[in-house]
Amino acid sequence: MKSLNLNLNLNLNLNSGLSTENLAADNMSGKQAKYLVIAEALRKAIKEGQVAPTEWLPSARKLAQQLAVNRHTIMAALAELVAQGWVEAKERSGYRVVANLPIQSSRPVNKVNQRAQDFDWQFRHKQNIPVTPKIKASQYVYNFSGGQPDIRKFPFDEFKGHFAQTCQRPKIDDLSYGDSRGEAELITEISTYLRRVRSITDKEMMICNGSQEALYMISQLLLQPGDKVAVEQLGYPPAWAAFERAGAELIAIEQDERGIDPVHLAKVLAEGDVKLLYLTPLHQYPTTVSLDIARRMKIYQLAVQYGVAIVEDDYDHEFHYDSQPIAPMAADDPAGLVIYISTFSKIMFGGARIGYVVADNALITQVSAYKMLMNHKSNVLVQQAVAKWMQQGGFEGHLRRMTRLYQKRRDFMVLELKSYQAKGMPIHFEVPAGGMAIWLDTGKSIVGLKEKLLAKKVYLQTEVEFNMLKELPECDYRFIRLGFAAMNEVEVAQGLSIVMAVLYSEES
Ligand SMILES: Cc1ncc(COP(=O)(O)O)c(C=O)c1O
Repeated sequence: MKSLNLNLNLNLNLNSGLSTENLAADNMSGKQAKYLVIAEALRKAIKEGQVAPTEWLPSARKLAQQLAVNRHTIMAALAELVAQGWVEAKERSGYRVVANLPIQSSRPVNKVNQRAQDFDWQFRHKQNIPVTPKIKASQYVYNFSGGQPDIRKFPFDEFKGHFAQTCQRPKIDDLSYGDSRGEAELITEISTYLRRVRSITDKEMMICNGSQEALYMISQLLLQPGDKVAVEQLGYPPAWAAFERAGAELIAIEQDERGIDPVHLAKVLAEGDVKLLYLTPLHQYPTTVSLDIARRMKIYQLAVQYGVAIVEDDYDHEFHYDSQPIAPMAADDPAGLVIYISTFSKIMFGGARIGYVVADNALITQVSAYKMLMNHKSNVLVQQAVAKWMQQGGFEGHLRRMTRLYQKRRDFMVLELKSYQAKGMPIHFEVPAGGMAIWLDTGKSIVGLKEKLLAKKVYLQTEVEFNMLKELPECDYRFIRLGFAAMNEVEVAQGLSIVMAVLYSEES
């Protein structure tokens, strides 16, 4: 009886993850031998506790029938599991799961909670935000996530060629441990690019595992518990988290329609103890406003006067549509106090984990020493492939194509929003000169909106997430950030119609 139930469970599992079609496809593409795919599915079933230690597996004949494969294939899969120590063969009886599974994590999920008491970890810091959301933004049908590129448009085939090249002629020396600053050829490529498009010269660069790693290391190196970090009141929470983790206190600087207010900043700096000022001067995150020259100069003078370093996060300067983007503060930094960071997460995708930090030699030396301590260096193969992509012009071509596409998508979203305005929706927005999102005043409180939209398969971020001030009256949070880059026109139109319906329906 027991063995009958077991068969049923395995049936379900195998059929979902391992259809005959999948097997055939894998085989044809030469990905993985059929018997290994089956062994993996069985191993997963054992690890998940579908088959407990000492329980019998279905017979090879039954498995062969279920999966429509040859019995020899099943025998090979079982032999593989025996070799790995997951099952044992009993003569004339068949195969059963061993009593002691090879690894501790194989403990069936439903038995984990039977431990008498959990170990009492003494955390120095405790993370109080969920590290990985249950459902990722990209898994929603409509993803208005503000900084999300359209990853479907990335030229994977072309990029694959650069990866292949790096493996065909491996640089053995670079592939070992060593210089934590990053691959010299990638640093050369990005430095040349930055000199041309952002006028940044006479600074050093190092490659990081995304700009978040740079923010974290800078915080750890420069901040003491009790130091203050001045940040835009509406800003980028992952940067705030890095500063706070180093023990810093965040001070929110007021913003108006021209960006961060230098008068308020001057007041805060005069009160003392501010170590760092974190800014997104171009396409401010999340409001998309670019700081004008006059304010930048005033802010820079204040930083010099009070001896405060500026972290300039130039996260999406590549996408600017109506003119050349204004040069970064790092381009004119006689005092050498600007730490410039940027990323390939918008050009490629967040999972590429390529970011960089550009600053004076003394700082870069310390950051690279810190990186050595944390993780030696960033992934060499990816860096080399990106360097080749840049050297051979693919990077520039991709940027040109994506800039054109995102401009069209921005214009489309603007038209859509204007049509809602014409229908009487009380929405207001400025057309952003660049970036990947529109900051929209909905004219009403957006508290609770995100949750309602998630239930309708729409992901977007609201002012509640970006505003450092958490205690304002609900009616003071009115903005949403609508990313326009990741979706095509049909998706944007459909997604917006759901957003508007939820925002302005009778009951909301
Ligand atoms: C303001 C800002 N800075 C930095 C980043 C990129 O971070 P990373 O390079 O770690 O992916 C993002 C991406 O969302 C961002 O919005």
